[in-house]
Amino acid sequence: MKFAASRFMHASGGIRYHLRAIRYRQTLWTPFRAALASWLDCWRPACRRLVVIGPSGGHTLPAGLFARFDDVTALEPDPVARVILRRRQADCKLRFESFDCLSNAAGMGELAGRFGDRALLFCNVLGQVGCPDPDGWSECLATRLSGCHWASWHDVISTNRQPMRTDPVEMAATQSLESILGRFWPGGELPLIDHGTLALGRDGPHAYATWALTPTANHLIEWCSHAARP
Ligand SMILES: C[S@@+](CC[C@H](N)C(=O)[O-])C[C@H]1O[C@@H](n2cnc3c(N)ncnc32)[C@H](O)[C@@H]1O
Repeated sequence: MKFAASRFMHASGGIRYHLRAIRYRQTLWTPFRAALASWLDCWRPACRRLVVIGPSGGHTLPAGLFARFDDVTALEPDPVARVILRRRQADCKLRFESFDCLSNAAGMGELAGRFGDRALLFCNVLGQVGCPDPDGWSECLATRLSGCHWASWHDVISTNRQPMRTDPVEMAATQSLESILGRFWPGGELPLIDHGTLALGRDGPHAYATWALTPTANHLIEWCSHAARP
């Protein structure tokens, strides 16, 4: 399936997100960008080609990531994001496709069919758009992408409350949401939005970091990666 339309104003990106990136990328976003760079540096899938899903303008992506691959395909409906990403990755072999793998339940299977020989990287998009599969993202990825090398970082929860720590946490085994939240926001009740993405990739390991998107919007981000199973 193709993207329904160009999305200048999509809720999970668009102009508002680019303006936030201009404002906060080099300041408020610096600790999260460092955590993400470290996760991506450790992710070494056995593939020469990469597909990025929802990269926006690459505002949080580390500079050298695309250069590690022979070529990169980006699935990104926002035309402004495409221009920014192309400029930012001018030295890399980058192409865009209008294939939408997230808007219907068959999409993940089609993604595996088209790009199963490449590393797949979900760039903070899975917790931003609703899951079309009634079983949820975790089950959907486990069944449709078991034969692929894939990784994702995604929103687990968002809240207006400041976390007590900003350094990332690694967890070998899957933990409950309460125990993970307790590492960052200890004590008391936390008003939050649950993005329905906890423990993607199932058993782990998982890593977590907070991202202060704005001074009043804090996100808990999960990182996970999966190696292809025959
Ligand atoms: C929160 S932004 C990602 C942030 C980005 N990774 C960065 O480094 O700044 C989510 C992105 O997902 C894109 N998106 C929304 N629906 C999508 C879909 N069906 N397929 C691919 N990307 C999509 C949006 O256009 C937006 O750019």
